[in-house]
Amino acid sequence: MKSATGLLLSASALLGASCVNGLAEEVFAAIDKQDDGLRTVNKEIWENPELGYKEVHAHKILTDFLEEQGFNVTRSAYNLSTAFRAEYSSGEGRAVSFNSEFDALPGIGHSCGHNLIATIGVASAIGVKEALENQGVSGKVVLIGTPAEESMGGKVKLLEAGAYDDLDCSLMAHPGNDLYASYGRTLASWRANVTWSGEASHAAAAPWLGRNALDGFVSAYSSTGLYRQQLMSTDRIHHVIQGTSDMVANIIPDFVDTVWGVRGKSRPRAEQVREQLFRILYASSNATNTSIEITPFQDYWDQNPSFQLAQAYYNLQKEYLDPSEDSETANFTITAPEDDDGEASASSDQGNVSWFLPVIQVSFPVGGTAPVHNAGFRELAGTDFAHEQAIKTAKALALTGIQVLQNETFAEAMWTEWEAMIKEISVGLSENMGNSTRNSTRKRHVH
Ligand SMILES: *[C@@H]1O[C@H](CO)[C@@H](O)[C@H](O)[C@H]1NC(C)=O
Ligand SMILES: *[C@@H]1O[C@H](CO)[C@@H](O)[C@H](O)[C@H]1NC(C)=O
Ligand SMILES: *[C@@H]1O[C@H](CO)[C@@H](O)[C@H](O)[C@H]1NC(C)=O
Ligand SMILES: *[C@@H]1O[C@H](CO)[C@@H](O)[C@H](O)[C@H]1NC(C)=O
Ligand SMILES: *[C@@H]1O[C@H](CO)[C@@H](O)[C@H](O)[C@H]1NC(C)=O
Ligand SMILES: *[C@@H]1O[C@H](CO)[C@@H](O)[C@H](O)[C@H]1NC(C)=O
Ligand SMILES: *[C@@H]1O[C@H](CO)[C@@H](O)[C@H](O)[C@H]1NC(C)=O
Ligand SMILES: *[C@@H]1O[C@H](CO)[C@@H](O)[C@H](O)[C@H]1NC(C)=O
Ligand SMILES: *[C@@H]1O[C@H](CO)[C@@H](O)[C@H](O)[C@H]1NC(C)=O
Ligand SMILES: *[C@@H]1O[C@H](CO)[C@@H](O)[C@H](O)[C@H]1NC(C)=O
Ligand SMILES: [Zn+2]
Ligand SMILES: [Zn+2]
Repeated sequence: MKSATGLLLSASALLGASCVNGLAEEVFAAIDKQDDGLRTVNKEIWENPELGYKEVHAHKILTDFLEEQGFNVTRSAYNLSTAFRAEYSSGEGRAVSFNSEFDALPGIGHSCGHNLIATIGVASAIGVKEALENQGVSGKVVLIGTPAEESMGGKVKLLEAGAYDDLDCSLMAHPGNDLYASYGRTLASWRANVTWSGEASHAAAAPWLGRNALDGFVSAYSSTGLYRQQLMSTDRIHHVIQGTSDMVANIIPDFVDTVWGVRGKSRPRAEQVREQLFRILYASSNATNTSIEITPFQDYWDQNPSFQLAQAYYNLQKEYLDPSEDSETANFTITAPEDDDGEASASSDQGNVSWFLPVIQVSFPVGGTAPVHNAGFRELAGTDFAHEQAIKTAKALALTGIQVLQNETFAEAMWTEWEAMIKEISVGLSENMGNSTRNSTRKRHVH
């Protein structure tokens, strides 16, 4: 008898360590109750892929649904036609935020699965709203609709416009094939248009009068290939031709338009690689007597997640939604934050956000082998299984957000750790890399 009571007590104490008894169940039920609507949102976005800053349909579907759910919705927020902000608040307290991305890729639709990211943002916000509305939790939940992640950095503009001021954390998720991870880092990423302009001429009658723009590009392409031997495993250089003058074999090509991407594990490293790339580009121009123009258009910083948030997410996932206990997901790999190798992969404008407040961008698997940015992944991102995985992810993210709202000690530890991390990774940053957003108007919500 005595030992049975002891068991009961320790079980409820264990539950209480992350959430008040029963709260998680209520939060999950609130999300499940809206599943039909969430499926429609997901499907509508997936079936109607739209490119960055042109996500008109997604913007409408999402904001209409959020308004129906009782959120205060600002459409076309921060002077960006397809951005939005949806909030719900109850009493004084901290503010947690989620991001919904919804842009697609040219030609291959939702091959990055941002339809799922959009759905997760909405479902997570619904979960936290339930805690605020009916479960006695106080504070605020904010869902930010963040356009144009793939290339034009919606979150960078949103940051500059103050969208992340006065928030305590930014939580989001990204789909992949077979991995659950909560402490994923991303690479710093820089991108530019580069054009070579030369002089057209008859390739047989007077080639000596021509200046060959294609040779300019090929020269840079080759030199970059040689440079690869000196790159680190986390560096990336990639490039495509996006336009040329009419390509006819008997005309010396006088124009080539390309895009170059440079990535590194940190901003200073990406900068170093970029510096060498500039030498290569200028040398190619000199070598072919063509003129070169470099027009940067992307600068995503490395994403440095909050370890505290990653650990909270991992613990809550294991406690309430353990994938290894479900035969449909037992096959996938789960990486605990402390076991993460810390190797960054891909890039995101959420990187910029991570220099401004504590963030996580967790990964969840939708199965298959076609990688993201492959048309095969579009199909994987559109399945019922992917939707169900997204909803489970949203549930764990919602509980993580609620922990930030409820647990003062946790929130303090999260901010303290974040401040120390930013200090550490800022060492050696030059002036133009440093303080623009860290010196913000953000106020810490402590009650
Ligand atoms: C609050 O957070 C702290 C620090 O993470 C943790 O040790 C504690 O168990 C949490 N308390 C509750 C009630 O969840
Ligand atoms: C809104 O954006 C437009 C360009 O898209 C710009 O001309 C205008 O000044 C901006 N307004 C504000 C208030 O920032
Ligand atoms: C919605 O916005 C109005 C006007 O700002 C505010 O008074 C109200 O408290 C908000 N409601 C919620 C639930 O956040
Ligand atoms: C281009 O080549 C000339 C030699 O012909 C050299 O003097 C000059 O420094 C080079 N410029 C660049 C930008 O490499
Ligand atoms: C390089 O191109 C310029 C025109 O831009 C031309 O005047 C010059 O003669 C060319 N130099 C050589 C070495 O062909
Ligand atoms: C880069 O090139 C593309 C294709 O020509 C163009 O649409 C885009 O505006 C360019 N970006 C900048 C910053 O010039
Ligand atoms: C984010 O991106 C912009 C440009 O894309 C850059 O200028 C800015 O310094 C970056 N960092 C932060 C923390 O916003
Ligand atoms: C799951 O594991 C089994 C046994 O290792 C393997 O045959 C199967 O292909 C795996 N399925 C997936 C979806 O990875
Ligand atoms: C950032 O700002 C602080 C004080 O505002 C200053 O001491 C520091 O030198 C700045 N760092 C950079 C990299 O600009
Ligand atoms: C933040 O910026 C404001 C004005 O831009 C400046 O007055 C203030 O000293 C800065 N604070 C810190 C901590 O750097
Ligand atoms: Zn993506
Ligand atoms: Zn992508």
